[in-house]
Amino acid sequence: MTPSDNHFLALAAPGITGLTPYVPGKPVSELERELGISGSIKLASNENPLGPGPLARVAIAACLNELGRYPDGGGFELRRVLAEHLGVSPQSITLGNGSNDVLDLVARVFLQPGTESLFSEHAFAVYPIATQAVGATPRVASARAYGHDLEAMAALVSDRTRVVWIANPNNPTGTWLRSDALQAFVDSLPETCLVVVDEAYTEYVDEPEFPDASRWIGTYPNLIVTRTFSKAHGLAALRIGYALSDPRVADLLNRVRQPFNVNSLAQAAAAAAIGDRDHVRASVALNSAGMAQLTAAFDAMGLDYIPSVGNFVAVDLGRPAAPLNEVLLRLGVIVRPIANYGLPNHLRVSIGLPEENARFIAALGQALTA
Ligand SMILES: Cc1ncc(COP(=O)(O)O)c(C=O)c1O
Repeated sequence: MTPSDNHFLALAAPGITGLTPYVPGKPVSELERELGISGSIKLASNENPLGPGPLARVAIAACLNELGRYPDGGGFELRRVLAEHLGVSPQSITLGNGSNDVLDLVARVFLQPGTESLFSEHAFAVYPIATQAVGATPRVASARAYGHDLEAMAALVSDRTRVVWIANPNNPTGTWLRSDALQAFVDSLPETCLVVVDEAYTEYVDEPEFPDASRWIGTYPNLIVTRTFSKAHGLAALRIGYALSDPRVADLLNRVRQPFNVNSLAQAAAAAAIGDRDHVRASVALNSAGMAQLTAAFDAMGLDYIPSVGNFVAVDLGRPAAPLNEVLLRLGVIVRPIANYGLPNHLRVSIGLPEENARFIAALGQALTA
């Protein structure tokens, strides 16, 4: 076969060739290699700047002698611990290689060509990718004040809609839905339609009206709630998340799950992390202080931002953010431009350590006056 003999490329599934790939935050090592600089900081992937807590670190170290063996494919112990912690049955839990993995499982099980999934403008970028990867059609509802407009979403539900994706709070906007509004929406959906409530950032939210959708699992067999250990638990590198659902839905998701999708370190670390309330508390407190630090600086600089309940905030620079982002990169500060989310004037910055936040603020001030 010669290099020009590439007809097979055109044979890829149309959904795959048509999709826009996920753009991850630029790694520090890549930036430093490209620019020949050192000492850069990354506030681009909504990670926990404290990393894992002490209990998770001990659990990880205890696994090292067993790394020659496959993990427990059923995640028995982790599901037992999670079930106890969350007050659900182990049969309602599906483990994933990050919660991204369970989002993909949902798409593989419930979407196919001829069906639709529905999400909001500015919603998490994985929803269209998971949808198109299986040949289904994404439908996008207009946002209201950067957040989910549940009325606009309800208006797009059709007899082809099989999955509705809702991030609560949403990434990259940090907007959130109140309990009564979200439950009324879930309640209104036809039984031919699943709803995924993606609670990746739930631990950070301190709002009395914020829902814990896992409480509704017993009421709505078409509800799936996803959570992750990548954010408040500081285990992003290990890739571990999970879905909570009706056990019959979990059974379907588990049929297509790779047998060893969650590695042993992740299982052990997550089982320890879920009980480490002190670490989550410290992470959330650091986040609140960092959010106040950043938003006070934005106010002082006269910049608007989208009020966020997550561990990140999208700031409106009032002009295209891409050139300013280039200046920030040269100053060794990696944040996230979000033009691909329909927000070309915004940069999303993840809350870091106080000194990292201060460095970002100083660099932003420099970039704005450059
Ligand atoms: C809303 C939302 N859901 C899910 C994820 C996936 O995270 P992970 O695969 O690390 O669990 C992210 C990651 O940024 C996210 O922002």
